[in-house]
Amino acid sequence: MAKRIHILNGPNLNMLGTREPETYGSMTLKQIADACGEHARRLGIDLEFHQTNSEGKLVDLIQAARGTADGVILNPGAYSHTSIAIRDAISAAAVPVVEVHLTNVFARESFRHHSHISPVAVGVICGFGATGYILALNALAARP
Ligand code: DQA
Repeated sequence: MAKRIHILNGPNLNMLGTREPETYGSMTLKQIADACGEHARRLGIDLEFHQTNSEGKLVDLIQAARGTADGVILNPGAYSHTSIAIRDAISAAAVPVVEVHLTNVFARESFRHHSHISPVAVGVICGFGATGYILALNALAARP
């Protein structure tokens, strides 16, 4: 059976393309979604792609992945640095989560150096722009 992967994006990622392009690049979230869709087809993965600006909605989407997804790729945006609710949702969902950041958060402001999500993620990819999502798809596809 095809693996089912959900890609979840948090706040302000809907602004990609116009948001601080010198930091986040010029690709829109739609272009990233299309590239992920194409790559998922190549890997034989069933893909869902979501974005929300709301912390509660992100919790809902993570809870919904329980039993319906084999893996989640999550860019929690700024909630990475603040949200215990999202961390708890990941622990409760019992689904492998790969944390992705477009930027190298460790090369940026010190408040971005800590993530509440990383300790409950199976892995973390940061600093490779949109390619990070592709790397995360490869990583989840390769997991037994
Ligand atoms: C981000 C990094 C976060 O620190 C920031 O708040 C974002 C985007 C990234 O993809 O690089 O919104 O998650």
